[in-house]
Amino acid sequence: MTTLAVFASGHGSNLQRFIEETRAPGDEARLALVVSDQPGCRAVALARQAGIPVFAFDPSAYPDKAAFERGILRELRAHDVRWIALAGYMRLIGPTLLEPFRERILNVHPSLLPDFPGKDAIGQALDAGARMTGVTIHYVDEGMDTGTPIAQARIAIADDDTLESLSERIHTVEHRLYPAVALNLIRETKIP
Ligand code: GRF
Repeated sequence: MTTLAVFASGHGSNLQRFIEETRAPGDEARLALVVSDQPGCRAVALARQAGIPVFAFDPSAYPDKAAFERGILRELRAHDVRWIALAGYMRLIGPTLLEPFRERILNVHPSLLPDFPGKDAIGQALDAGARMTGVTIHYVDEGMDTGTPIAQARIAIADDDTLESLSERIHTVEHRLYPAVALNLIRETKIP
């Protein structure tokens, strides 16, 4: 059995998919912890509803990022977490977590990276007049959406697409692709 944590700051729709896909008793991947920097967000409520342990913290209660990441690391170790899946976690990961979890932190981004990194990737693609965008699952490094890609799915942009219509198609693809790719990797990779 391998344990993972999902980090989320917002709506939690990708978290919900990880909850559903790891529910089966005896699954090789176990969702052991949800971490959030937004204690009042929907993702935290979804985790609690599903009975998953939550570490939700207020970053302003810590002197700096290294201090709250040390707090996260303690929780990850207490729950024997081996993998981290970021799902709408709105912060860069610092060296305190990156070093012990190098090559074991995954993220989903709503564009075909390296195009449109950072915030509002869907709006960026529309504003640029792109004909094609998509979803990228990638390893996390110190940069903003710069880690090695693991999988991508392409989504065509129609002339009459709005932020709403395109976001809906992108999220549908994320919900299928992210848990499938991430959980496959987690189940297949044995970590001593
Ligand atoms: C997703 O679009 C993901 O690509 C991005 O943040 C969003 C999170 O949505 N990194 P949700 O909180 O999982 O609903």
